[in-house]
Amino acid sequence: MNMGSLLVLLAHLFVFFHPISALPVTYNVVSFGAKPDGRTESTKSFLSAWTSACGSARPAIIYVPPGRYLLGKAKFGGRCKNSAITIRIDGTLVAPSDYNVIGNAGNWLLFDGVHGVSILGGTLDGQGSGLWACKDSGKRCPSGATVMYMQTLGFSNSNNIMISGLTSLNSQMFHIVIHGCHDVRLQGVKVSASGKSPNTDGIHVQLSSSVTISNSKISTGDDCISIGAGTTNLWVENVACGPGHGISIGSLGKDLREPGVQNVTVKTVTFTGAQNGVRIKTWGRPSNGFVRGVLFQHIDMVNVKNPILIDQNYCPSNKGCPRQASGVKISDITYQDIHGTSATKVAVKFECSQVHPCSGIRLEDVKLTYKNEPAHASCDNADGTTSGFVEPTSCL
Ligand SMILES: *[C@@H]1O[C@H](CO)[C@@H](O)[C@H](O)[C@H]1NC(C)=O
Repeated sequence: MNMGSLLVLLAHLFVFFHPISALPVTYNVVSFGAKPDGRTESTKSFLSAWTSACGSARPAIIYVPPGRYLLGKAKFGGRCKNSAITIRIDGTLVAPSDYNVIGNAGNWLLFDGVHGVSILGGTLDGQGSGLWACKDSGKRCPSGATVMYMQTLGFSNSNNIMISGLTSLNSQMFHIVIHGCHDVRLQGVKVSASGKSPNTDGIHVQLSSSVTISNSKISTGDDCISIGAGTTNLWVENVACGPGHGISIGSLGKDLREPGVQNVTVKTVTFTGAQNGVRIKTWGRPSNGFVRGVLFQHIDMVNVKNPILIDQNYCPSNKGCPRQASGVKISDITYQDIHGTSATKVAVKFECSQVHPCSGIRLEDVKLTYKNEPAHASCDNADGTTSGFVEPTSCL
């Protein structure tokens, strides 16, 4: 054994057998005054439990026993001494039914600037139906902060995060947002909201690197997973999506200067009754943004309206998009082993930018049908290659 591995071994022995650092301390929110009755505001108790865990250098468990806990907006942060905080939730956290409370804050539960935090289990009930009804009625409704999308659960500027076995129900707007983070694992997450609920994206990632989303099920009224500017090294595997608007890289290129999206893998995903399958969407505006190095692999489409889509002409209400030309450069995008049924005739659509045509698009083993017939493909400014069996016949 060399000196290096001996030191590593000693370090492990120290961590596992040192009498003080070995045992995590448990902070039960009920002993901080939280009431599992679904009616008593327990925000302060949760924040006190957090402050204790955060201030301790020993690994900590914040425990939430079974029951329903009413929580207002809460921000967990504060330069913790601790880099191993586990929040184990056996209960349900319930948002205030008055949507103005969260609406004006922009977030419900936000973790900011934390490191080594895990959330295990639990249900977050966003009680979004009031806000959805407000929007449907055409009234003015809260739309959250501008920097980060309004959400049920947010992590910003944080590292080494795990979210496992969590259920997010009926968010007012986005369910989970990862913003400015590094090393994040989401696994066994369940997101559920009505297919008609507005802006209830499942998981949104932006300005973040090394994020993994696996073994999850997302049913919602907007994107299952949305991938914003500045996302790199994202891995999505074994996800069921639908209803919803699919997995979307974008919208990108709204701003002139914007970090790109690079190295994204989306594999073993089933889209059922979704509006889109795998989509890349950019504004038809000048921008220095880019998308490169994307692999969509082993994808099953069940009755999806736009199974494969690149849309570089996004411009709601046709405002502020001179000549509709997107500056975002899209290159090196691979679609491999994509099969199933389209709900419309055109199953593969590449509408790329006139100023920066898409390049390096690869279609390999694709079979998409519409009403038991081969579907169609349409291309604008798209360049690439095909291999294996590809149907609809490629227009590249
Ligand atoms: C791409 O991202 C994956 C994680 O999703 C990572 O394992 C891999 O090293 C990255 N590749 C490059 C070239 O950075």
